[in-house]
Amino acid sequence: MSDRWVRAERAWMFEQGDALFLLDARQVLRRMAQQSADLARAVLALYRAPRSRDELLLALSELTGAPIESTDVIDALCDELKRAGAIVRVPSHTPHVQPPAMGRAGLRVVLGITGAVQSSFSPTMASLLMAEGHTVRVCATEESLRFCSAMALTALTHSPVCSSLWDASAYGPAPHIRLAEWADLVLVAPASATTLSRIAQGVCDNPVSAVALATRAPVLLAPSMNVAMLEAPAIARTLETLRLDGHWLIEPTQGHEVALAPSARAPMHGTMPPPHELIPIVRAVVSTGPARRLPHAVSSLASWDARYLAEPDTRPWQSDALDEGLAELLAQHSAPSLRALDVGCGTGLVAAHLASLGCSVTALDGAAAAIAQAQARYPRAHVRWLCADARTVTLDGTFGLVHDRALLHVLAPEDVPLVLARYARWLSDQGTLVISVHSAQAPESLGTTRYTEASLRALLAPLGSVTLCESCTLRGPEATEVPALRAVLTRQG
Ligand SMILES: Cc1cc2nc3c(=O)[nH]c(=O)nc-3n(C[C@H](O)[C@H](O)[C@H](O)COP(=O)(O)O)c2cc1C
Repeated sequence: MSDRWVRAERAWMFEQGDALFLLDARQVLRRMAQQSADLARAVLALYRAPRSRDELLLALSELTGAPIESTDVIDALCDELKRAGAIVRVPSHTPHVQPPAMGRAGLRVVLGITGAVQSSFSPTMASLLMAEGHTVRVCATEESLRFCSAMALTALTHSPVCSSLWDASAYGPAPHIRLAEWADLVLVAPASATTLSRIAQGVCDNPVSAVALATRAPVLLAPSMNVAMLEAPAIARTLETLRLDGHWLIEPTQGHEVALAPSARAPMHGTMPPPHELIPIVRAVVSTGPARRLPHAVSSLASWDARYLAEPDTRPWQSDALDEGLAELLAQHSAPSLRALDVGCGTGLVAAHLASLGCSVTALDGAAAAIAQAQARYPRAHVRWLCADARTVTLDGTFGLVHDRALLHVLAPEDVPLVLARYARWLSDQGTLVISVHSAQAPESLGTTRYTEASLRALLAPLGSVTLCESCTLRGPEATEVPALRAVLTRQG
């Protein structure tokens, strides 16, 4: 099937007179005028939904009411838009999620806002959710309304903001219960440290925590706070509890700490991503099914744990020696003190090896039993062992090297974009991702996702440039060698 393309999240446009200016992700300005600008506007509008070239040409001919005679101009324009990063390739086997059409397929979203400074962006958040076709009701803590006005949110959503457990009338269901039942999705963005703790502890003394706890809909929480707060052990425990309770946690990103004077502000980890970056995350969660409150993380991680507690032969992929060729690659891309991350570290072989190369290693696995075994096997290795789910974990800072051996191919397809988005965030600029997955030649009976070189390259392309993609093998059942692919990617943001 031919490639499909879609409007990028990260291209900005502005207009003056007839001219359309496109400022791409690398801050390069491109100017198009008159008919080219009109055509570009039409093409960009059509690419709001993913399309192949043929689908684009068809849609354009429907728009103009005539068949497209010469496709050269359109191809040249599309090439220009691709170069500018205004349209991007849709990875071929990533489940593509159509944004719901305005007012039809949209969900009922409760937007919970709290006393974190990012609440000043709540009007934008509400507007973007509505632009996706969702119906939005806002639920606010008292403190959140210091950062934005209830009136503005009411005007935007055409619904009153729920900021108290007590309605005007004491008859009928309380407002938070009405909202909890009404919601298809609850998004608490930003989620303050206090509100997160309330939800983790089941404290329902304000409408936001009460809705999050009472609803049967999925709950997405976007923690947003000062990095020192985020790193406090109490908050780490809170986030872990929320994860185990089945909430979706959106990893914080870098933002400006308003506690500092404006002139002293530098980007600092801990704030929620800006509203336009939250929208694709909401889409990805929605695509996993509207009524799934518990991400399968909880149950499937329990089953991984059980495998690590059972006999080693239930883990045929496990090996006591590094895969052939991997040692050279790791040596090539590591350096003393380099921050390295081993995702899905199992019993710790690669993490301990990276530590022996002098890297400052963090290793994570969703199975607590795997982490316990890794710690027991390598008691002296300088590794920070974490029991955490790669789909939801929050990690501080970035890494010069991220290693994933055989995690991607066991993920459910809907989880792949979540993990790739984390790799994008965790990798430092020019950092290296080394990844191994089963290839198309691997036996289907293993039940893993089998990648071709093209599909793996397409999947990784948005993260940077793939500098190597080669065949290799991974240990399989009864000491067989399962055909696999190993790719090396250099992160380019
Ligand atoms: C200017 C200012 C900015 C704040 N920003 C944050 C923040 O980003 N994250 C956070 O967790 N708390 C922040 N706080 C503290 C919260 O407002 C405070 O903990 C409050 O009790 C949260 O209550 P709520 O969760 O009920 O909204 C900030 C406070 C002030 C005064």
